[in-house]
Amino acid sequence: MDLKTRAEEMRSFFDRKIDTYDEVHAAFAETKRLLTDCLPDGTETVLDLGAGTGLELIPLFERFPDIRVTAVDVSPKMLAVLAERPFADRVKIVCGDFFAADFGGPFDAVISTSALHHFPPREKEELYRRIRGCLRPGGVFLNSDKISPDRRAEAEALAEYEADPARWPHMDTPLAPSTETELLENAGFRQVFVAPTDRENYRLFTAVRDE
Ligand SMILES: C[S@@+](CC[C@H](N)C(=O)[O-])C[C@H]1O[C@@H](n2cnc3c(N)ncnc32)[C@H](O)[C@@H]1O
Repeated sequence: MDLKTRAEEMRSFFDRKIDTYDEVHAAFAETKRLLTDCLPDGTETVLDLGAGTGLELIPLFERFPDIRVTAVDVSPKMLAVLAERPFADRVKIVCGDFFAADFGGPFDAVISTSALHHFPPREKEELYRRIRGCLRPGGVFLNSDKISPDRRAEAEALAEYEADPARWPHMDTPLAPSTETELLENAGFRQVFVAPTDRENYRLFTAVRDE
């Protein structure tokens, strides 16, 4: 499945989930709050990839009331909910695909949660290069997302996808923490760390663009 078709499938998948999305994702509040907790003091500009309805932006604006955010997402219906949030006047909304949208920048930080576990390693490394490219030197990338526990489980998920690509995005293809670390380093990130979260199958990945 090419990237354009993939983005289109993802758009209709999330457009259809909109009525129950915030209720279902209330259980993931801590995986979203972690992003804000780990941002350096003085962060002024943030790119949120897969911002959806803006749930992770609620704690972000509590800690950094004057922060400027660019929110990228392929689903107009998810973004329409974000656009009604009380802080929406400080958010630049970009409706587009991670692999094609103009992110702008340079940003102090790029954040993402629950949004990047559908991409196989080659595409993910490409995306990580795009992310690094829109950070200022010293900027940070924080990604809180679903993982596979190890490379065997990762290979099984990827093989299941290869056997029936039409099921995508109704199936997840999360990667193992060691694969994520490797891809981030291949993309040029340094100081890559993996931290646990309150959910067994979620990790927080932090990485720095050091030059
Ligand atoms: C599970 S939701 C997460 C939303 C929000 N970050 C949260 O934690 O509540 C994943 C979001 O990523 C967006 N998304 C997935 N693939 C995308 C792509 N290729 N380009 C842009 N947005 C994408 C979806 O539209 C969806 O809103």
